[in-house]
Amino acid sequence: MDIKIEIGVEPNNGKHGHAHRDPDPRFAIVTCSDTRSIDEDTAGKALEDLISEKGWECQSRVVVTDDVDEIAAAIAYAADRDDVDIVLTCGGTGLSPRDVTPEATRKVCQREVPGIAEGMRTYSLKITNRAMLSRATCGQRFGNDTSALVINLPGSKKAATENWEAIADVLPHAVSMSTGAGH
Ligand code: MTE
Repeated sequence: MDIKIEIGVEPNNGKHGHAHRDPDPRFAIVTCSDTRSIDEDTAGKALEDLISEKGWECQSRVVVTDDVDEIAAAIAYAADRDDVDIVLTCGGTGLSPRDVTPEATRKVCQREVPGIAEGMRTYSLKITNRAMLSRATCGQRFGNDTSALVINLPGSKKAATENWEAIADVLPHAVSMSTGAGH
């Protein structure tokens, strides 16, 4: 059988010609800490400021204790809002027995998005080898009419800020894809 395979060259050098602009993502922040109050949540506040520097909205910021059910409930509540596209968690991703944010995230997400956590660790390892101590995960939670990305960030202001730098630019397109908009 004579099979002819044509290797197509995409116009525009393989880059997608984005006629549309990805929408601005809308956020909620869930800080996970046994010791911090909302006023002491400097890392969560820094994330809120970084979101608004981009011109994006943060709809809510809460602090919950390092309890797996409490964290899971807070993530699910924020993710199911129809004005939230991305839930950022802050803290509880390390190796201490009380660090259970990734477990809570997996409990309420239908599937994982490993590349986002891998991307954060790859970026962060250029700054500190302690980045390998992060067990952060990312996932997608789908409701009846909602979908949200859940992204675990570390709990110190410095670490949360650096991890945000690693991912911020990809978030609008991630939300577009999550809602089924395609490229
Ligand atoms: N990532 C960056 N970019 N910068 C940091 O300082 N700290 C690491 C890691 N990721 C760090 C980082 C450390 S020391 C820990 S223990 C893990 O994140 C988990 O942090 P968490 O327990 O506050 O979530």
